[in-house]
Amino acid sequence: MSVYPPPEDVGKVLVTADEIQRRVGELGAEIARDLSGCTPLLVGVLKGSVIFVADLMRAIAGPVDIDFIAVSSYGDATASSGVVKIVKDLDSPIAGRHVILVEDIIDSGLTMKYLVEHMANQEPASLRTCSLLTRRGRQDPDVQIDYVGFELPPAFVVGYGLDAGQQYRNLPFIAIYTGQ
Ligand code: IMP
Ligand code: MG
Repeated sequence: MSVYPPPEDVGKVLVTADEIQRRVGELGAEIARDLSGCTPLLVGVLKGSVIFVADLMRAIAGPVDIDFIAVSSYGDATASSGVVKIVKDLDSPIAGRHVILVEDIIDSGLTMKYLVEHMANQEPASLRTCSLLTRRGRQDPDVQIDYVGFELPPAFVVGYGLDAGQQYRNLPFIAIYTGQ
């Protein structure tokens, strides 16, 4: 039997499954409180946010809708250029809705910055941002993240939706990727 995940690819665990579940519960409670009386629309950025969105919506004790948007970065795949292409747009209009954009991780913040501008043009009642993870010291200061799960040191990570070459999204924790 081979070991999964392979120790040569997945190293130190930075956030355990229990820590994630506890923090997601806190974020859900905070969102429910901030938007009580409304039906927030969680917009997950595919694919990395799917697991986070699924847990976050169950942590909101009240009505909530979800939708998804998919983007691809132009240019160098390892460093976001800030020029993103929408590969799958929202299913329904967001005018008048209380929207929360949900990301897996903010690195430079350029993807989120682009999406905030794209959605702000569509006249939502309010627009907030949420990310499970942010990476310390890398962010564009213009990008404000209203709800943050954890701040991480500068290492590439996998698990809980985040991938390396489409692998390791199914790990229940966040760990440093040590593969090639
Ligand atoms: P940004 O536009 O530079 O903020 O890039 C954010 C996007 O890059 C995220 O939505 C992820 O898809 C991807 N990304 C950045 N860092 C990591 C990581 O450590 N693991 C997996 N994906 C990452
Ligand atoms: Mg992403």
